[in-house]
This record gives sequence, structure tokens and C-alpha cells, in this order.
Amino acid sequence: MVDHTGPKSIEAFTEAQKYIPGGVNSPARAFGAVGGNPPVISHGKGAHLFDLDGREYIDYVCSWGPLIFGHAHPRVVQVVQEACTRGTSFGAPTLAETALARQIVQMVPSIEMVRMVNSGTEATMSAVRLARGYTGRDKIIKFEGCWHGHGDSFLIKAGSSALTLGAPDSPGIPQAIAALSITVPYNDAGAVKQALRQNPGQIAAIIVEPVAGNMGTVPPRAGFLEQLRQLADQDGCVLIFDEVITGFRLSPGGAQEYFGVMPDLTCLGKIVGGGLPVGAYGGKRAIMENVSPLGKKISQAGTLSGNPLAMSAGLAQLQMLTPEVYTRLEQLSQQLEEGMAANLKSLGLRYTLNRVGSMLCMFFTESQVVDYPTAISADTGCFKRYFWELLQRGVYMAPSQFECLFPSAVHSEVDVETTLHIHYEALKAIH
Ligand SMILES: Cc1ncc(COP(=O)(O)O)c(C=O)c1O
Repeated sequence: MVDHTGPKSIEAFTEAQKYIPGGVNSPARAFGAVGGNPPVISHGKGAHLFDLDGREYIDYVCSWGPLIFGHAHPRVVQVVQEACTRGTSFGAPTLAETALARQIVQMVPSIEMVRMVNSGTEATMSAVRLARGYTGRDKIIKFEGCWHGHGDSFLIKAGSSALTLGAPDSPGIPQAIAALSITVPYNDAGAVKQALRQNPGQIAAIIVEPVAGNMGTVPPRAGFLEQLRQLADQDGCVLIFDEVITGFRLSPGGAQEYFGVMPDLTCLGKIVGGGLPVGAYGGKRAIMENVSPLGKKISQAGTLSGNPLAMSAGLAQLQMLTPEVYTRLEQLSQQLEEGMAANLKSLGLRYTLNRVGSMLCMFFTESQVVDYPTAISADTGCFKRYFWELLQRGVYMAPSQFECLFPSAVHSEVDVETTLHIHYEALKAIH
């Protein structure tokens, strides 16, 4: 692996490491999975990023998903600037909160009421607490390879057999909490059925990424989401779709609209905040009416929740999501997928490409990728070399094999063509 990062970025990142653990405020940014120093970003414009050394990149990270209209979109910038001049936070009701909540309810089919928080993590933690409070049950079922943020209940790996308890995936998480999270294979409704049978009347929620986006892109098998819906109904537990990535990306109503399966609760983040810190959880009125101060008064609060800057940015972005935007995202993503497939073919390579809408991933494995074990069969050494070949030629992808590419609506055909040319050159260089 050759680290091609420029001297100004290296100097800035070295300085950052003196004061911030690992020099970053979220670990993946430290490039641990690919080694070397990350470029330090000076600014972004549209689909392009610029680092401190003046290097320009076509960006497929887009802040890990939120920037569906790219960086510094003029409309988003304008509404945030206007909101700023009226005051940055009040901790009191504002019109902007209702406007964004109404917009979400209108767009996401299963959401009747919604509560704003400040991140996807807060959304998933709050949704699980609500499910527990609502059902009076303690355990949850989640899926191997899905990521729901860094809440204690989610950082739990499966036990060594179906009958052993989950184990903490990080120091600092009590075993007593791990015992409440049951982790089953993605796309395996039979395992969910078994877990429900083994824990009768004890499961508060099944939480799932309806398209997994945190082990690369892994689509749900035909019928998988429908089976989860059916199993949750039979058991009386709450079905939570974590749509932090898929929400507003796959369709105006997210994965639930795309696949036609309705959860009880939905977690949102990323796009809903227009690039500012926002999360949200919402769903059936009968459940949501138990969030404090209503009903069972299930606790959840936040000083900056519903912040007017974030609400304005989110609303501006959601209001721009016309049907043409989804047509455009689909066209660009298809162009990328087909171009990558053609490159692989002409190089005699048989790596797996997975795509759902504008979530896309090339796995360095010839196996079909349908779950976590098949995802991690990918050759991460190969990915590392590929990553740096791309970066030095000006394509910025997430620094891990197990992430999606997120084309935005402002990537141009020329961006995609350039990317495909670089993709070919990068693959050729490492084989
Ligand atoms: C599906 C999913 N859920 C939850 C989260 C957590 O969101 P946040 O990083 O805003 O806390 C993420 C973050 O990547 C995510 O991809």
C-alpha cells in the first residue's frame, strides 16, 4: 500500500491526533481499514471534494449518505444562512419543526407521528426504548452485519451458537445488556422464527436495515421483509426499519415504499438533516403517543433536538426530492454499475456487484453476497490497494470494503465516465 496523501493533510492530521482520539470524531475516518493518512478536507462543491493540498476528488461518500444533492447546495446553504440570522437554537417550539415533521409524515407511508433527535444513533436507541416501553418486553432481535449506530444494545455480536447469549462487541458494554440482544443472520427469516420461539413473549422489537448498507450493499432476499412483518405480527413485537441510509434514498418513502412492506417504527437520519446533525424516529400513532410527555411517558429528550438550522436544511432537501431526482439517481447508479461490470469483464475479473437504487458496492469476492459471512469473504487486502489507486487518481470512496458508494443527484455523466475510467485503471494496476 502506498500512501499518496499530500503533505498538508498529513501535517494537519498529525496535529489532530494530539487532541482528538485517533485524530477523528468517528473512527472510520481514520482510514484504519485501508492504512495511511486520510486527506484532510478543506471544502466540497457539488459532487466534488477538495483537500488541504488542493487535490480534487469525485466524492462517493457524500458525508456517508446525507448529501443527496452534493456539497454546499445553494438552496440548503441559503435556508441555513437565513435560519442562522434568526437565532441558532431556542429549546422551545418553532414552526420549522412542524414543517419538517409534516413533510416526513407526508413522504414516509408508515409514519403518522415523528420525533426529531440529533443523529441516527439517537433515533435507533430511542426507537428501541419506545418498543420496550410499549410492549413491556426487554429483548430485541437484530441482524449480523447491520449497523444501527453505537448504542449499547446494538454493539453485540452473536453468541457462539444459537443458544448462547450475545457478547459485547466493545469494552464498556455490560454482559447484562448483551444478554438482551439476539443477533441472527441477515436474510434468514427462519432464524428469526426460531429466536421468537425460544423467547416467547420476551421480544420487544425486531430491528433491521431493510437494505443492509453497512456490510457493503446487501439487498433483502425476495420475501424476507414480508416474512419479518408476518413474524412480528404473530409475536406481537414491534418491527423497526432502520432507514437511516435507505430513507429518502431509495424512494421518497424509503425502503418501505420501495419494497411495499410497512414497519411499525422507522428510524431516519442522514438525508433527513440535509447534512446537519439530525435523526428522527416515527411510526404508528398508537405507539408514538407513548413518547414522553404522552401516554406511558417513555423518556426521550434533547436540548438541541428540532434545532432550527437542522430543520431548515432537512426540509429544504426533502422538498427538492422530486420524481425526476429518483430517475436521475437511478440512471447514474445504473451507469456506474454497468460500467463497472463492463470493466470487470474486460479485465477477466468476476467480482460481485450489488446495487439497490443509489446504494452500490463492489465486493472483492466471486461469491454472491447475501449476508455477513459472504460479505466478509471479500479480499480486504485487494480492496486496500484498489482504494489507494482510486484515491490518487481522484475518486474518493469510503475507506472500507464494507460500505456503499452513494452517487448524488448532482454527479454528472462526466463524473461517472471519469470514475469508470479510473475504476478500470485502478483494477488493472492491482492485478
Ligand atoms: C443504518 C444506520 N443506522 C444508524 C446509523 C447511525 O447514525 P449516526 O451515525 O448518525 O449516529 C447509521 C450510520 O451510519 C446507519 O448507517
